[in-house]
Amino acid sequence: MSMEQEAPASWLDVYDPYSKAYCEDPAPQCLALYNSGRFVYYEPWGAWVMTQLDDIMQCWKEEYLSSDFYDWEHAPPRPPEAEWTNYERAMIGHSLLADHDHHLLVRKIAAPAFSRNVVDEIERRIKPDIEKLFDDLGTPDTFDYKEEIARHIPFISITRLIGVPEKYWDAIRPVVANFTDTWNPTLSDERREKARQECNIAIDIFKEMLAERRRSPQRDDVLSILLEAEAKHDDFDEWDILTLILALIGAGSDTTFTFQQWTVYALLKHREQLATALSSHDAFANAFSEVSRWGVISKMGFARYAPRDMEICGEPVRKGAMVLLMPHLYEHDPAYFPEPSKFDVTRTFEPDIRFGYGPRFCIGAALAKRQLYLTVSELVRRFPNIELAAEPERLYDQTSIAFESLLLRTNG
Ligand code: HEM
Repeated sequence: MSMEQEAPASWLDVYDPYSKAYCEDPAPQCLALYNSGRFVYYEPWGAWVMTQLDDIMQCWKEEYLSSDFYDWEHAPPRPPEAEWTNYERAMIGHSLLADHDHHLLVRKIAAPAFSRNVVDEIERRIKPDIEKLFDDLGTPDTFDYKEEIARHIPFISITRLIGVPEKYWDAIRPVVANFTDTWNPTLSDERREKARQECNIAIDIFKEMLAERRRSPQRDDVLSILLEAEAKHDDFDEWDILTLILALIGAGSDTTFTFQQWTVYALLKHREQLATALSSHDAFANAFSEVSRWGVISKMGFARYAPRDMEICGEPVRKGAMVLLMPHLYEHDPAYFPEPSKFDVTRTFEPDIRFGYGPRFCIGAALAKRQLYLTVSELVRRFPNIELAAEPERLYDQTSIAFESLLLRTNG
């Protein structure tokens, strides 16, 4: 499948995900990088790229690389413990991302909090919020789905998932919108510091919330299950809960916002498949995978760092080097997906890796699909004749392929 070749004169001629050409049609560039070698050094980012699905799945499964941002050779220095604010305590001290064994333990202990029953309960709680969004929208001839609906869903899902009382919403809102900035290496120091401060405020609020919950326990939601786990397990404490909450915000906000837009775009562009996609939760889960595959929305994939000097796929890699796992490169390989440019919500996905694989499989996968299903169903219920009002303009400077806006026509 892959052929070892000499590095090109400029990698940006092969793969430039911030270019107009990539954002308009990523498949040719993805296939070019995919076929340029199994493990290649991508000079523009100073990072190695793992291109082949089998290697990526093995890396996901065996976790021989670190997920800890502070293991990157260009990361800011890990601050000494005496200087930690709440933010560092949550992100470094108890990081869900850093310590392999502790991560496995946290995932095992926290698993019941993300079970199907809990997602059913969360659905019950977020449904009225989604209905209210559409009530507030009214019945316009056209509207921007991105601004009017999609932008609000991450906040709704995360606050309802965690059970944040409404009195805290205003303080939590900027954190849900900006938290991922705190570890974005390309961000200005000023903006990163602002996001860090917002995060510290949020951690104080979450601590207060946990104290309140301890005083008046509830049942069958994520916080109650995590607090029960804290009481039962010596090695699972309040900082594990706080870290987990931050991880949910960090991993669940931008992804949800992006996929809200892409799911509506792809399904309305192929309206004839809309009914099939919405026919059941399982059918919708499959449609979600097809939206993700067909759109090739990702640009950089998933970052890992070499924990020591080592050999990866036959190449010597130095300690601290960044390795990008890019499973999105194979999405248009006809050997995996016949007629890859065709959108088909009934395609078979074996394996289905859109939510990762192995120990770091997305903890919010069930919730992500459920809130998408709820929102798209509500959109079609309110506006049975809904269609795209225009082909959306694409933004080139974002970390995934994003739309300027997503204008929909309701047709009465
Ligand atoms: C469409 C939306 C989503 C997609 C496509 C997605 C995809 C993924 C993928 C591929 C990973 C693995 C990343 C890696 O290996 O580095 C992951 C991890 C994760 N996701 Fe999601 N995700 C989505 C939504 C969510 C939501 C809504 C939440 C929380 C409510 C969430 C929470 C997490 C967490 C906490 C992790 C890290 C798990 C760990 O390290 O153990 N995700 N997600």
